Amino acid sequence: MNLESLLHDRLAPAFAAVAGTPVDPAVRSSPHADLQSGAALALAGRLHRPPREIAAEVAATADLTGIAEVTVSGPGFLNLTVADDWIATALDAIAGDPRLGVPPVPDPKRIVIDYSSPNLAKEMHVGHLRSTIIGDSLARLLDWQGHDVHRVNHIGDWGTPFGMLLEHLAEAADGTGHSLAGLTAFYRAARVRFDTDEDFRIRARLRVVALQNGDGPTRELWRRLVAQSEKAFLGVYDRLGVTLGPEHFAGESTYQDELAGIAAELAEKGLLTESDGALCAFPAGFTGRDGAPLPLIVRKADGGFGYAATDLAALRHRVSDLGADELLYVVGSPQRIHFGMVFAVARAAGWLPETVSAEHIGFGSILGADGKMLKTRAGDTVRLSGLLDEADSRATDPALGIAAIKYADLSGDRRGDYVFDWDRMLASTGNTGPYLQFAYARICSISRRAEGAPGPIRITEPAERALALALMGFEPALTAAAGPREPHRIATYLYELASTFSRFYERCRVIDAEPETRSSRLALCALTARTLHTGMFLLGVEALDQI
Ligand code: ARG
Repeated sequence: MNLESLLHDRLAPAFAAVAGTPVDPAVRSSPHADLQSGAALALAGRLHRPPREIAAEVAATADLTGIAEVTVSGPGFLNLTVADDWIATALDAIAGDPRLGVPPVPDPKRIVIDYSSPNLAKEMHVGHLRSTIIGDSLARLLDWQGHDVHRVNHIGDWGTPFGMLLEHLAEAADGTGHSLAGLTAFYRAARVRFDTDEDFRIRARLRVVALQNGDGPTRELWRRLVAQSEKAFLGVYDRLGVTLGPEHFAGESTYQDELAGIAAELAEKGLLTESDGALCAFPAGFTGRDGAPLPLIVRKADGGFGYAATDLAALRHRVSDLGADELLYVVGSPQRIHFGMVFAVARAAGWLPETVSAEHIGFGSILGADGKMLKTRAGDTVRLSGLLDEADSRATDPALGIAAIKYADLSGDRRGDYVFDWDRMLASTGNTGPYLQFAYARICSISRRAEGAPGPIRITEPAERALALALMGFEPALTAAAGPREPHRIATYLYELASTFSRFYERCRVIDAEPETRSSRLALCALTARTLHTGMFLLGVEALDQI
Protein backbone atom coordinates (compact mmCIF):
# COMPACT_ATOMS: atom_id res chain seq x y z
CA MET A 1 0.00 0.00 0.00
CA ASN A 2 1.43 3.31 -1.04
CA LEU A 3 -0.84 6.22 -0.22
CA GLU A 4 1.33 8.65 -2.11
CA SER A 5 1.21 6.76 -5.37
CA LEU A 6 -2.49 6.02 -4.89
CA LEU A 7 -3.29 9.73 -4.68
CA HIS A 8 -0.83 10.40 -7.46
CA ASP A 9 -2.88 8.08 -9.67
CA ARG A 10 -6.11 9.79 -8.62
CA LEU A 11 -4.87 13.32 -9.27
CA ALA A 12 -2.90 12.65 -12.47
CA PRO A 13 -5.94 12.36 -14.81
CA ALA A 14 -7.51 15.50 -13.30
CA PHE A 15 -4.31 17.52 -13.74
CA ALA A 16 -3.93 16.18 -17.28
CA ALA A 17 -7.48 17.24 -18.11
CA VAL A 18 -6.92 20.75 -16.77
CA ALA A 19 -3.47 21.18 -18.35
CA GLY A 20 -4.16 19.39 -21.62
CA THR A 21 -0.92 17.35 -21.19
CA PRO A 22 0.30 14.77 -18.67
CA VAL A 23 1.41 16.36 -15.41
CA ASP A 24 3.21 14.89 -12.39
CA PRO A 25 0.88 15.72 -9.48
CA ALA A 26 3.94 15.83 -7.14
CA VAL A 27 2.16 14.34 -4.13
CA ARG A 28 4.20 14.70 -0.94
CA SER A 29 3.57 14.33 2.75
CA SER A 30 2.77 17.59 4.44
CA PRO A 31 2.41 19.02 7.92
CA HIS A 32 -0.96 20.56 6.92
CA ALA A 33 -2.74 17.41 5.79
CA ASP A 34 -1.92 13.75 5.12
CA LEU A 35 -0.61 14.64 1.67
CA GLN A 36 -0.16 17.68 -0.47
CA SER A 37 0.20 18.42 -4.18
CA GLY A 38 2.09 21.49 -5.36
CA ALA A 39 1.68 20.80 -9.06
CA ALA A 40 -0.74 23.70 -9.63
CA LEU A 41 2.00 26.17 -8.77
CA ALA A 42 4.31 24.79 -11.41
CA LEU A 43 1.50 24.82 -13.99
CA ALA A 44 0.31 28.37 -13.42
CA GLY A 45 2.86 30.08 -15.64
CA ARG A 46 2.25 27.77 -18.54
CA LEU A 47 -1.54 27.97 -18.35
CA HIS A 48 -1.62 31.70 -17.53
CA ARG A 49 -4.02 31.00 -14.71
CA PRO A 50 -3.82 31.58 -10.96
CA PRO A 51 -2.55 28.40 -9.24
CA ARG A 52 -5.37 28.45 -6.67
CA GLU A 53 -7.90 28.30 -9.48
CA ILE A 54 -6.10 25.34 -11.10
CA ALA A 55 -5.95 23.52 -7.75
CA ALA A 56 -9.66 24.10 -7.18
CA GLU A 57 -10.54 22.79 -10.62
CA VAL A 58 -8.42 19.65 -10.08
CA ALA A 59 -10.12 19.11 -6.71
CA ALA A 60 -13.51 19.38 -8.42
CA THR A 61 -12.72 16.89 -11.22
CA ALA A 62 -10.52 14.25 -9.51
CA ASP A 63 -11.90 10.99 -8.16
CA LEU A 64 -11.52 11.60 -4.46
CA THR A 65 -13.31 8.59 -3.03
CA GLY A 66 -11.99 7.96 0.44
CA ILE A 67 -10.73 11.51 0.88
CA ALA A 68 -12.40 13.22 3.82
CA GLU A 69 -11.18 16.72 3.20
CA VAL A 70 -9.73 18.68 0.29
CA THR A 71 -8.55 22.25 0.74
CA VAL A 72 -6.55 24.72 -1.28
CA SER A 73 -4.03 26.61 0.82
CA GLY A 74 -1.38 29.27 0.41
CA PRO A 75 -0.51 30.18 -3.15
CA GLY A 76 -2.25 27.05 -4.52
CA PHE A 77 -1.37 23.88 -2.65
CA LEU A 78 -3.92 21.10 -2.74
CA ASN A 79 -4.21 19.45 0.69
CA LEU A 80 -5.73 16.02 1.03
CA THR A 81 -6.88 14.36 4.22
CA VAL A 82 -7.77 10.69 3.97
CA ALA A 83 -10.98 9.46 5.60
CA ASP A 84 -10.54 7.42 8.78
CA ASP A 85 -12.77 4.59 7.61
CA TRP A 86 -10.89 4.40 4.34
CA ILE A 87 -7.62 4.00 6.28
CA ALA A 88 -9.24 1.34 8.46
CA THR A 89 -10.39 -0.66 5.45
CA ALA A 90 -6.97 -0.39 3.81
CA LEU A 91 -5.28 -1.61 7.01
CA ASP A 92 -7.68 -4.55 7.36
CA ALA A 93 -6.61 -5.55 3.85
CA ILE A 94 -2.92 -5.24 4.76
CA ALA A 95 -3.49 -7.26 7.92
CA GLY A 96 -5.11 -10.01 5.86
CA ASP A 97 -2.20 -10.16 3.42
CA PRO A 98 0.78 -12.41 4.23
CA ARG A 99 2.98 -9.89 2.36
CA LEU A 100 1.65 -6.95 4.39
CA GLY A 101 0.31 -5.17 1.32
CA VAL A 102 3.62 -5.28 -0.53
CA PRO A 103 3.12 -6.92 -3.91
CA PRO A 104 6.07 -8.71 -5.53
CA VAL A 105 7.80 -6.56 -8.16
CA PRO A 106 6.06 -6.83 -11.54
CA ASP A 107 9.34 -7.29 -13.44
CA PRO A 108 11.62 -9.55 -11.38
CA LYS A 109 15.30 -9.35 -12.32
CA ARG A 110 18.10 -11.85 -11.98
CA ILE A 111 20.42 -10.07 -9.59
CA VAL A 112 23.92 -11.32 -8.82
CA ILE A 113 25.16 -9.80 -5.58
CA ASP A 114 28.82 -10.10 -4.61
CA TYR A 115 29.34 -9.53 -0.90
CA SER A 116 31.41 -10.47 2.14
CA SER A 117 34.25 -11.77 -0.10
CA PRO A 118 36.96 -12.03 2.56
CA ASN A 119 40.49 -13.20 1.87
CA LEU A 120 41.55 -16.72 2.56
CA ALA A 121 43.95 -17.67 5.31
CA LYS A 122 43.41 -14.33 6.92
CA GLU A 123 40.69 -14.10 9.45
CA MET A 124 37.88 -11.78 8.49
CA HIS A 125 38.39 -8.30 9.86
CA VAL A 126 35.92 -5.51 10.49
CA GLY A 127 36.22 -4.24 6.91
CA HIS A 128 34.50 -7.42 5.76
CA LEU A 129 31.87 -7.00 8.45
CA ARG A 130 30.23 -4.11 6.64
CA SER A 131 30.16 -5.87 3.28
CA THR A 132 28.68 -8.96 4.93
CA ILE A 133 25.98 -7.08 6.84
CA ILE A 134 25.00 -4.58 4.15
CA GLY A 135 25.16 -7.14 1.36
CA ASP A 136 23.06 -9.60 3.32
CA SER A 137 20.39 -7.03 4.03
CA LEU A 138 20.20 -6.04 0.36
CA ALA A 139 20.06 -9.68 -0.72
CA ARG A 140 17.20 -10.30 1.73
CA LEU A 141 15.32 -7.22 0.57
CA LEU A 142 15.67 -7.92 -3.15
CA ASP A 143 14.75 -11.56 -2.56
CA TRP A 144 11.65 -10.53 -0.66
CA GLN A 145 10.66 -8.12 -3.39
CA GLY A 146 10.50 -11.12 -5.69
CA HIS A 147 13.77 -10.79 -7.60
CA ASP A 148 15.83 -13.84 -8.47
CA VAL A 149 18.83 -13.17 -6.24
CA HIS A 150 22.09 -15.01 -6.70
CA ARG A 151 24.58 -14.55 -3.83
CA VAL A 152 28.28 -14.79 -4.63
CA ASN A 153 31.13 -14.88 -2.12
CA HIS A 154 34.16 -13.89 -4.19
CA ILE A 155 36.77 -14.96 -1.65
CA GLY A 156 40.40 -14.08 -2.26
CA ASP A 157 41.79 -17.61 -2.55
CA TRP A 158 44.47 -17.13 -5.18
CA GLY A 159 47.49 -15.02 -6.05
CA THR A 160 51.02 -14.31 -4.86
CA PRO A 161 50.37 -14.30 -1.07
CA PHE A 162 49.59 -17.98 -1.35
CA GLY A 163 53.18 -18.73 -2.20
CA MET A 164 54.32 -17.71 1.25
CA LEU A 165 51.34 -19.29 2.99
CA LEU A 166 51.66 -22.64 1.27
CA GLU A 167 55.41 -22.78 1.66
CA HIS A 168 55.03 -22.03 5.35
CA LEU A 169 52.35 -24.69 5.62
CA ALA A 170 54.44 -27.24 3.72
CA GLU A 171 57.42 -26.70 5.99
CA ALA A 172 55.23 -26.74 9.07
CA ALA A 173 53.77 -30.06 7.96
CA ASP A 174 57.33 -31.32 7.78
CA GLY A 175 57.43 -31.32 11.54
CA THR A 176 57.74 -27.84 13.00
CA GLY A 177 54.32 -28.28 14.50
CA HIS A 178 52.44 -25.31 13.13
CA SER A 179 48.77 -25.71 12.57
CA LEU A 180 46.10 -23.78 10.79
CA ALA A 181 44.03 -23.38 13.92
CA GLY A 182 44.91 -19.76 14.46
CA LEU A 183 44.71 -18.45 10.94
CA THR A 184 45.80 -14.92 11.74
CA ALA A 185 48.84 -16.09 13.68
CA PHE A 186 49.64 -18.44 10.85
CA TYR A 187 49.43 -15.65 8.31
CA ARG A 188 51.62 -13.40 10.43
CA ALA A 189 54.27 -16.04 10.93
CA ALA A 190 54.43 -16.66 7.19
CA ARG A 191 54.65 -12.93 6.60
CA VAL A 192 57.53 -12.51 9.04
CA ARG A 193 59.51 -15.27 7.36
CA PHE A 194 58.77 -13.82 3.94
CA ASP A 195 59.98 -10.40 5.03
CA THR A 196 63.13 -11.57 6.78
CA ASP A 197 64.32 -14.76 5.12
CA GLU A 198 65.66 -14.48 1.57
CA ASP A 199 65.72 -18.26 0.95
CA PHE A 200 62.16 -18.61 2.16
CA ARG A 201 61.16 -15.83 -0.21
CA ILE A 202 62.63 -17.72 -3.16
CA ARG A 203 60.87 -20.94 -2.12
CA ALA A 204 57.61 -19.01 -1.73
CA ARG A 205 57.89 -17.68 -5.29
CA LEU A 206 58.47 -21.20 -6.58
CA ARG A 207 55.36 -22.30 -4.69
CA VAL A 208 53.24 -19.77 -6.58
CA VAL A 209 54.49 -21.26 -9.82
CA ALA A 210 53.84 -24.77 -8.54
CA LEU A 211 50.30 -23.82 -7.52
CA GLN A 212 49.59 -22.26 -10.90
CA ASN A 213 51.02 -25.25 -12.73
CA GLY A 214 48.77 -27.59 -10.83
CA ASP A 215 51.51 -29.40 -8.86
CA GLY A 216 49.72 -32.15 -6.92
CA PRO A 217 51.11 -31.76 -3.37
CA THR A 218 50.91 -27.96 -3.60
CA ARG A 219 47.28 -28.13 -4.71
CA GLU A 220 46.58 -30.46 -1.82
CA LEU A 221 48.05 -28.00 0.68
CA TRP A 222 46.06 -25.22 -0.95
CA ARG A 223 42.85 -27.22 -0.64
CA ARG A 224 43.54 -27.68 3.09
CA LEU A 225 44.00 -23.97 3.46
CA VAL A 226 40.78 -23.28 1.54
CA ALA A 227 38.78 -25.78 3.57
CA GLN A 228 40.06 -24.42 6.87
CA SER A 229 39.34 -20.82 5.93
CA GLU A 230 35.90 -21.58 4.58
CA LYS A 231 35.05 -23.31 7.81
CA ALA A 232 36.12 -20.24 9.77
CA PHE A 233 34.07 -17.93 7.51
CA LEU A 234 30.98 -20.12 7.84
CA GLY A 235 31.37 -20.00 11.61
CA VAL A 236 31.28 -16.21 11.50
CA TYR A 237 28.27 -16.18 9.14
CA ASP A 238 26.45 -18.48 11.48
CA ARG A 239 27.09 -16.24 14.48
CA LEU A 240 26.08 -13.19 12.48
CA GLY A 241 22.92 -14.87 11.21
CA VAL A 242 23.62 -14.01 7.59
CA THR A 243 22.23 -15.99 4.67
CA LEU A 244 25.59 -16.94 3.12
CA GLY A 245 26.34 -20.63 2.97
CA PRO A 246 28.89 -23.00 1.43
CA GLU A 247 26.93 -22.97 -1.83
CA HIS A 248 27.79 -19.29 -2.34
CA PHE A 249 31.58 -19.64 -2.31
CA ALA A 250 33.01 -18.79 -5.71
CA GLY A 251 36.56 -17.71 -4.99
CA GLU A 252 38.98 -16.02 -7.31
CA SER A 253 40.52 -19.42 -8.14
CA THR A 254 37.28 -20.38 -9.92
CA TYR A 255 38.24 -18.17 -12.85
CA GLN A 256 41.90 -19.14 -13.27
CA ASP A 257 41.39 -21.04 -16.50
CA GLU A 258 39.62 -18.08 -18.07
CA LEU A 259 42.28 -15.45 -17.48
CA ALA A 260 44.56 -16.09 -20.46
CA GLY A 261 41.49 -16.04 -22.69
CA ILE A 262 40.33 -12.77 -21.15
CA ALA A 263 43.67 -11.15 -21.95
CA ALA A 264 43.75 -12.60 -25.46
CA GLU A 265 40.25 -11.39 -26.25
CA LEU A 266 40.96 -7.89 -24.93
CA ALA A 267 44.15 -7.78 -27.00
CA GLU A 268 42.27 -8.91 -30.09
CA LYS A 269 39.74 -6.13 -29.56
CA GLY A 270 42.57 -3.64 -29.37
CA LEU A 271 41.86 -2.79 -25.75
CA LEU A 272 45.30 -3.58 -24.28
CA THR A 273 48.47 -1.52 -24.22
CA GLU A 274 51.86 -2.62 -22.95
CA SER A 275 53.12 -0.52 -20.09
CA ASP A 276 56.33 -1.36 -18.19
CA GLY A 277 56.03 -4.95 -19.33
CA ALA A 278 52.44 -5.28 -18.11
CA LEU A 279 49.37 -5.51 -20.32
CA CYS A 280 46.92 -2.78 -19.34
CA ALA A 281 43.59 -1.39 -20.43
CA PHE A 282 43.17 2.39 -20.22
CA PRO A 283 39.40 2.95 -20.14
CA ALA A 284 38.35 6.46 -21.07
CA GLY A 285 37.54 8.87 -18.28
CA PHE A 286 39.85 7.42 -15.60
CA THR A 287 42.82 9.59 -14.82
CA GLY A 288 45.14 9.96 -11.86
CA ARG A 289 45.86 13.13 -9.92
CA ASP A 290 48.40 14.20 -12.52
CA GLY A 291 45.80 13.83 -15.29
CA ALA A 292 47.54 10.76 -16.73
CA PRO A 293 45.26 7.86 -17.78
CA LEU A 294 44.93 5.16 -15.13
CA PRO A 295 45.82 1.58 -16.07
CA LEU A 296 43.73 -1.47 -15.27
CA ILE A 297 46.41 -4.14 -15.10
CA VAL A 298 45.18 -7.23 -16.91
CA ARG A 299 48.47 -9.16 -17.02
CA LYS A 300 51.33 -8.27 -14.75
CA ALA A 301 54.92 -7.84 -15.94
CA ASP A 302 55.79 -11.27 -14.49
CA GLY A 303 53.09 -12.85 -16.67
CA GLY A 304 50.69 -13.46 -13.77
CA PHE A 305 47.07 -12.40 -13.67
CA GLY A 306 45.68 -10.51 -10.71
CA TYR A 307 42.60 -9.05 -9.10
CA ALA A 308 41.40 -7.05 -12.14
CA ALA A 309 41.67 -9.86 -14.68
CA THR A 310 39.82 -12.13 -12.25
CA ASP A 311 37.05 -9.56 -11.83
CA LEU A 312 36.67 -9.31 -15.61
CA ALA A 313 36.37 -13.08 -15.90
CA ALA A 314 33.91 -13.23 -12.99
CA LEU A 315 31.81 -10.48 -14.52
CA ARG A 316 31.66 -12.22 -17.89
CA HIS A 317 30.62 -15.44 -16.16
CA ARG A 318 27.89 -13.69 -14.17
CA VAL A 319 26.41 -12.12 -17.29
CA SER A 320 26.74 -14.89 -19.83
CA ASP A 321 26.50 -18.05 -17.70
CA LEU A 322 24.40 -16.89 -14.76
CA GLY A 323 22.21 -14.66 -16.94
CA ALA A 324 22.36 -11.62 -14.67
CA ASP A 325 20.27 -8.54 -15.42
CA GLU A 326 21.90 -6.63 -12.58
CA LEU A 327 25.35 -6.99 -11.01
CA LEU A 328 25.89 -5.65 -7.52
CA TYR A 329 29.25 -5.45 -5.74
CA VAL A 330 29.11 -4.61 -2.06
CA VAL A 331 32.72 -3.58 -1.47
CA GLY A 332 34.29 -0.70 0.46
CA SER A 333 34.48 2.74 -1.13
CA PRO A 334 38.26 2.62 -1.77
CA GLN A 335 37.52 0.15 -4.59
CA ARG A 336 35.20 2.55 -6.43
CA ILE A 337 37.69 3.30 -9.19
CA HIS A 338 38.63 -0.36 -9.59
CA PHE A 339 35.01 -1.26 -10.29
CA GLY A 340 34.43 1.76 -12.48
CA MET A 341 37.33 0.64 -14.64
CA VAL A 342 36.32 -3.03 -14.67
CA PHE A 343 32.80 -2.07 -15.80
CA ALA A 344 34.12 0.28 -18.48
CA VAL A 345 36.52 -2.33 -19.89
CA ALA A 346 33.80 -5.01 -19.78
CA ARG A 347 31.42 -2.72 -21.67
CA ALA A 348 34.08 -1.97 -24.29
CA ALA A 349 34.76 -5.70 -24.66
CA GLY A 350 31.07 -6.45 -25.14
CA TRP A 351 30.83 -8.59 -21.97
CA LEU A 352 28.50 -6.15 -20.27
CA PRO A 353 25.69 -5.24 -22.66
CA GLU A 354 23.68 -2.05 -22.14
CA THR A 355 20.72 -4.14 -20.94
CA VAL A 356 22.71 -5.29 -17.90
CA SER A 357 23.50 -2.86 -15.11
CA ALA A 358 26.58 -3.03 -12.91
CA GLU A 359 26.81 -1.15 -9.61
CA HIS A 360 29.51 -0.78 -7.04
CA ILE A 361 27.75 -0.43 -3.70
CA GLY A 362 30.41 1.28 -1.67
CA PHE A 363 30.48 1.96 2.05
CA GLY A 364 32.55 3.96 4.50
CA SER A 365 34.86 2.79 7.26
CA ILE A 366 34.31 1.80 10.86
CA LEU A 367 36.20 4.21 13.08
CA GLY A 368 37.47 3.97 16.64
CA ALA A 369 36.66 6.51 19.35
CA ASP A 370 39.65 8.53 18.15
CA GLY A 371 38.01 9.03 14.76
CA LYS A 372 40.64 6.88 13.03
CA MET A 373 40.26 3.43 11.48
CA LEU A 374 39.23 0.94 14.17
CA LYS A 375 42.30 -0.72 15.69
CA THR A 376 43.03 -2.77 18.79
CA ARG A 377 44.86 -1.06 21.63
CA ALA A 378 48.05 -2.67 20.34
CA GLY A 379 47.42 -1.07 16.95
CA ASP A 380 46.38 -4.26 15.14
CA THR A 381 43.35 -4.61 12.91
CA VAL A 382 40.33 -5.79 14.88
CA ARG A 383 39.40 -9.39 14.23
CA LEU A 384 35.76 -10.05 13.57
CA SER A 385 35.50 -13.10 15.80
CA GLY A 386 37.00 -11.16 18.70
CA LEU A 387 34.46 -8.43 18.16
CA LEU A 388 31.61 -10.94 18.18
CA ASP A 389 32.96 -12.47 21.40
CA GLU A 390 32.91 -9.05 22.97
CA ALA A 391 29.34 -8.44 21.74
CA ASP A 392 28.31 -11.68 23.46
CA SER A 393 29.94 -10.76 26.72
CA ARG A 394 28.73 -7.17 26.84
CA ALA A 395 25.06 -7.79 26.06
CA THR A 396 22.68 -9.43 28.50
CA ASP A 397 21.55 -11.73 25.70
CA PRO A 398 23.87 -12.73 22.77
CA ALA A 399 21.05 -12.05 20.29
CA LEU A 400 21.03 -8.46 21.53
CA GLY A 401 24.76 -7.98 21.08
CA ILE A 402 24.90 -9.23 17.49
CA ALA A 403 21.75 -7.33 16.58
CA ALA A 404 23.24 -4.17 18.08
CA ILE A 405 26.34 -4.45 15.89
CA LYS A 406 24.35 -5.17 12.76
CA TYR A 407 21.78 -2.47 13.40
CA ALA A 408 24.44 0.15 14.16
CA ASP A 409 26.00 -0.66 10.80
CA LEU A 410 22.74 -0.58 8.87
CA SER A 411 21.03 2.39 10.46
CA GLY A 412 23.26 5.06 8.94
CA ASP A 413 23.76 5.88 5.27
CA ARG A 414 26.18 3.19 4.09
CA ARG A 415 28.40 5.72 2.33
CA GLY A 416 29.36 7.37 5.61
CA ASP A 417 31.98 6.32 8.15
CA TYR A 418 30.77 5.61 11.67
CA VAL A 419 32.31 5.39 15.08
CA PHE A 420 32.16 1.98 16.70
CA ASP A 421 30.77 2.70 20.16
CA TRP A 422 29.54 -0.16 22.34
CA ASP A 423 27.61 2.05 24.74
CA ARG A 424 25.71 3.78 22.00
CA MET A 425 24.84 0.70 20.01
CA LEU A 426 23.79 -1.31 23.06
CA ALA A 427 21.60 1.52 24.44
CA SER A 428 17.94 0.60 24.82
CA THR A 429 16.79 4.07 23.81
CA GLY A 430 17.35 5.91 20.56
CA ASN A 431 17.69 4.45 17.10
CA THR A 432 19.39 1.20 18.14
CA GLY A 433 18.98 -2.53 17.68
CA PRO A 434 18.05 -3.15 21.33
CA TYR A 435 15.40 -0.38 21.20
CA LEU A 436 13.69 -2.12 18.29
CA GLN A 437 14.02 -5.53 19.89
CA PHE A 438 12.50 -4.31 23.15
CA ALA A 439 9.72 -2.53 21.26
CA TYR A 440 8.92 -5.72 19.39
CA ALA A 441 9.01 -7.92 22.50
CA ARG A 442 6.78 -5.45 24.36
CA ILE A 443 4.09 -5.58 21.67
CA CYS A 444 4.25 -9.38 21.69
CA SER A 445 3.73 -9.31 25.43
CA ILE A 446 0.68 -7.02 25.10
CA SER A 447 -0.87 -9.45 22.64
CA ARG A 448 -0.11 -12.36 24.97
CA ARG A 449 -1.64 -10.69 27.99
CA ALA A 450 -4.81 -9.39 26.32
CA GLU A 451 -8.00 -11.36 26.18
CA GLY A 452 -9.83 -11.65 22.90
CA ALA A 453 -8.65 -11.76 19.34
CA PRO A 454 -7.72 -8.98 16.91
CA GLY A 455 -10.75 -7.75 14.95
CA PRO A 456 -11.67 -5.15 12.37
CA ILE A 457 -9.76 -1.90 12.71
CA ARG A 458 -11.68 1.24 13.68
CA ILE A 459 -9.99 4.59 13.97
CA THR A 460 -11.26 7.01 16.60
CA GLU A 461 -8.19 8.53 18.31
CA PRO A 462 -5.48 10.65 16.66
CA ALA A 463 -2.80 8.30 18.06
CA GLU A 464 -4.51 5.35 16.35
CA ARG A 465 -4.66 7.28 13.13
CA ALA A 466 -0.97 8.18 13.35
CA LEU A 467 -0.06 4.53 13.93
CA ALA A 468 -2.29 3.42 11.06
CA LEU A 469 -0.64 5.86 8.66
CA ALA A 470 2.80 4.74 9.85
CA LEU A 471 1.85 1.11 9.16
CA MET A 472 0.80 2.05 5.63
CA GLY A 473 4.29 3.45 5.10
CA PHE A 474 5.96 0.02 5.00
CA GLU A 475 5.77 -0.53 1.27
CA PRO A 476 7.05 2.95 0.35
CA ALA A 477 9.93 2.49 2.81
CA LEU A 478 10.97 -0.79 1.18
CA THR A 479 10.77 0.71 -2.30
CA ALA A 480 12.81 3.71 -1.14
CA ALA A 481 15.45 1.38 0.33
CA ALA A 482 15.69 -1.00 -2.61
CA GLY A 483 16.11 1.59 -5.37
CA PRO A 484 19.28 3.30 -4.15
CA ARG A 485 20.35 0.14 -2.20
CA GLU A 486 20.01 1.88 1.14
CA PRO A 487 19.05 -0.43 4.02
CA HIS A 488 19.14 2.52 6.44
CA ARG A 489 15.80 3.63 5.00
CA ILE A 490 14.23 0.48 6.43
CA ALA A 491 15.93 1.11 9.77
CA THR A 492 14.69 4.70 9.92
CA TYR A 493 11.18 3.54 9.06
CA LEU A 494 11.18 0.84 11.76
CA TYR A 495 12.47 3.25 14.36
CA GLU A 496 9.72 5.73 13.53
CA LEU A 497 7.11 2.99 13.53
CA ALA A 498 8.24 1.77 16.95
CA SER A 499 8.19 5.34 18.30
CA THR A 500 4.72 5.95 16.85
CA PHE A 501 3.54 2.73 18.45
CA SER A 502 4.90 3.83 21.77
CA ARG A 503 2.95 7.14 21.59
CA PHE A 504 -0.15 5.16 20.65
CA TYR A 505 0.31 2.85 23.62
CA GLU A 506 0.79 5.79 25.98
CA ARG A 507 -2.49 7.36 24.89
CA CYS A 508 -4.73 4.42 24.06
CA ARG A 509 -5.68 1.67 26.48
CA VAL A 510 -5.55 -1.76 24.88
CA ILE A 511 -5.85 -4.59 27.37
CA ASP A 512 -8.65 -3.04 29.42
CA ALA A 513 -10.50 -1.28 26.58
CA GLU A 514 -14.11 -2.07 25.58
CA PRO A 515 -14.25 -5.34 23.59
CA GLU A 516 -14.71 -3.74 20.16
CA THR A 517 -12.05 -1.10 20.71
CA ARG A 518 -9.80 -3.74 22.22
CA SER A 519 -10.02 -6.02 19.22
CA SER A 520 -9.33 -3.12 16.87
CA ARG A 521 -6.34 -2.04 18.94
CA LEU A 522 -5.11 -5.62 19.19
CA ALA A 523 -5.24 -5.72 15.41
CA LEU A 524 -3.09 -2.58 15.33
CA CYS A 525 -0.67 -4.22 17.79
CA ALA A 526 -0.51 -7.41 15.77
CA LEU A 527 0.09 -5.56 12.52
CA THR A 528 2.78 -3.40 14.13
CA ALA A 529 4.50 -6.53 15.43
CA ARG A 530 4.38 -8.24 12.04
CA THR A 531 5.67 -5.15 10.28
CA LEU A 532 8.55 -4.78 12.74
CA HIS A 533 9.29 -8.48 12.47
CA THR A 534 9.39 -8.41 8.67
CA GLY A 535 11.43 -5.21 8.57
CA MET A 536 13.93 -6.59 11.08
CA PHE A 537 14.11 -9.81 9.10
CA LEU A 538 15.00 -7.77 6.01
CA LEU A 539 17.80 -6.08 7.94
CA GLY A 540 18.91 -9.44 9.28
CA VAL A 541 18.26 -8.30 12.86
CA GLU A 542 16.70 -10.96 15.03
CA ALA A 543 13.27 -10.24 16.52
CA LEU A 544 12.61 -12.06 19.83
CA ASP A 545 9.08 -12.52 21.22
CA GLN A 546 10.48 -12.34 24.69
CA ILE A 547 13.69 -10.86 26.05
N1 ARG B 1 38.60 -9.93 -1.40
C1 ARG B 1 38.47 -8.53 -1.70
C2 ARG B 1 38.98 -7.69 -0.53
O1 ARG B 1 39.01 -8.16 0.57
C3 ARG B 1 37.03 -8.11 -2.01
C4 ARG B 1 36.43 -8.75 -3.22
C5 ARG B 1 35.22 -8.02 -3.68
N2 ARG B 1 34.61 -8.60 -4.83
C6 ARG B 1 35.12 -8.53 -6.09
N3 ARG B 1 34.45 -9.12 -7.05
N4 ARG B 1 36.22 -7.91 -6.33
O2 ARG B 1 39.34 -6.55 -0.74
